[in-house]
Amino acid sequence: MQELLSSIYLFLKSGHVIFMVFWLAGLFMLPRQCIYMLDHEPGSAGEAKWATRMGKLRSIILTPAMLIVWVLGLTMAWSGGWLSEGWLHAKLALVLGLTGYHGWLVGQTKKMARGERPLTEKQLRMIGEVPGLLLIVIVLLVYLKPF
Ligand code: HEM
Repeated sequence: MQELLSSIYLFLKSGHVIFMVFWLAGLFMLPRQCIYMLDHEPGSAGEAKWATRMGKLRSIILTPAMLIVWVLGLTMAWSGGWLSEGWLHAKLALVLGLTGYHGWLVGQTKKMARGERPLTEKQLRMIGEVPGLLLIVIVLLVYLKPF
């Protein structure tokens, strides 16, 4: 098994990076879509349109990309023998945070689709920065492997 994974390692890593970009792109888009939805009254046709767009973003891009990033990442970690290394533990903690943020944001979009408005435009702009900040630290951990 290890031998097979080593022979396809670069394909696994390419897939990991490609789907990581899809996942992060979706996480950047979702708060922006929430901001556009704020322009529409609860129960309006405009709200329904944005609710449909958000649902598609979640089911076609966000959720599948997140699952693929996790599966390929853990497979590479096992194949590379990194499971006991500090940089990977720190990265996993941050990725768990990113996954939690993903789940929380999906919850907010579902509330908005039901006509609730739990967040203001300013709050949405601020929380929209979270994935970018996590991305910076995660990428530094992967490339520098400082511990
Ligand atoms: C979901 C859990 C994840 C696990 C278990 C994981 C694990 C790994 C492992 C083991 C590698 C290979 C390191 C190497 O070959 O030196 C890797 C590469 C990489 N990971 Fe992750 N990762 C995860 C999620 C993420 C996320 C969310 C991001 C970005 C936000 C990310 C960004 C990267 C990048 C950019 C590389 C490529 C490094 C290179 O070019 O060599 N990973 N990941």
